[in-house]
Amino acid sequence: MTSINAISKLDFSALTAKQFSLALDVERVRSDFPILSTDIYGKRLIYLDNGASAQKPRQVTDAVREAYETYYSNVHRGAHYLSQRSTDAFEEARSTIQRFINAPSDKNIIFTQNVTAAINLVAASWGRKFLKAGDEVLITEMEHHANIVPWHMLREELGISLKVVPITDDGLFRLDDYELALGPATKLVAITECSNVLGTKIPIKRVVELAHARNIPVLVDGAQGIVHQPVDVQDLDCDFYAFTGHKLYGPSGIGVLYGRSELLEAMPPYQGGGDMIEHVSFDGVTYAEPPYRFEAGTPPIVQAIGLGAAVRYVDRLGMDRIHAHEQALLAYANTRLAEIEGFRFIGTAPEKAAIISFLIDGLHPFDVAAVLDRQGVAVRVGQHCAEPLMDRLGIEGTVRASFGLYNCFDEIDKLAAALEKAKELLT
Ligand code: ALA
Repeated sequence: MTSINAISKLDFSALTAKQFSLALDVERVRSDFPILSTDIYGKRLIYLDNGASAQKPRQVTDAVREAYETYYSNVHRGAHYLSQRSTDAFEEARSTIQRFINAPSDKNIIFTQNVTAAINLVAASWGRKFLKAGDEVLITEMEHHANIVPWHMLREELGISLKVVPITDDGLFRLDDYELALGPATKLVAITECSNVLGTKIPIKRVVELAHARNIPVLVDGAQGIVHQPVDVQDLDCDFYAFTGHKLYGPSGIGVLYGRSELLEAMPPYQGGGDMIEHVSFDGVTYAEPPYRFEAGTPPIVQAIGLGAAVRYVDRLGMDRIHAHEQALLAYANTRLAEIEGFRFIGTAPEKAAIISFLIDGLHPFDVAAVLDRQGVAVRVGQHCAEPLMDRLGIEGTVRASFGLYNCFDEIDKLAAALEKAKELLT
């Protein structure tokens, strides 16, 4: 697993034995992702838009193809062989995810469409039942829309309010500001594990401890967290943990909501249909136990199987290795990009995931991204589904380079060269 390629741009002698043992064989990893050999406008693709969606390894596309070509059928319904095999594979994916996040049981794992659907599920089911006018949902200034809009919808419907923990100008989340914001009206903390714009990581364990000391449940939006570091929901002690498959090298159309059993059991269904009932007649209905109570209709069968394959893939590489590799990339990119005159980092918290938002003095971010695209460098530009954060920072948008497990140091050099080219062309 160790590879000199993974650390060639760092001061080798400064690496500890532990860091070296955590090095990823990036060349081998890259060979699992055929799309990375694609040329864009005649230049080799440099994919730095992992925060929006990650590429898929062969292990995932093979699992999806195998399911469709050899055993696909509907799940939980048929008495025939294919239905049984599909059901087994679908439920095995649920168990794989349960083990990956160390949930106590696979009954804690609900399949949803994506992280947005997972948060909406909590708002529509738990929120409608347990919140009332005057209650507060506490979020932070660095949430993306998926963890803002569902609470606005409850504000409009029930008269709850959103309270917002401020961040500092450099994108730091401060625990003392958070603790100050926790008040008697706070009935839920809904918080990101990692900002999709700034890369800032939030100390979720401490956030949960402080909320639980006041009997307030905590929903963690793990969309950007789970892709960069190991997650143990029992260690975090959170009440809900939501994430999406497509950022974790799995298919789109599949997400996960982990819920603590006591909460899930007390929650009503939020959508009705097949597969979520125990009995139904024209006179009434009784509902299935969690997780099925929350999975009405035919689920995203093959997408779940694909996510199971993605989780096995990253788990085999090791989330601690992936984390160490990405942290090394981040450290190198911070140094390399700071050499570019006029380069401005947006978000410089000390604890960051490998996400760099930036502006270049005097250049419009959309123009910069367009020049990068012509150099084969894929980045995201704009508000990143976080308009209130842009307002808070007083900017219209940023260019964002977000790194994944297959990115390498050479790509950072090429990003820097492409940015110099953008400056040359645009000034
Ligand atoms: N929320 C996703 C992003 O950060 C789409 O790009």
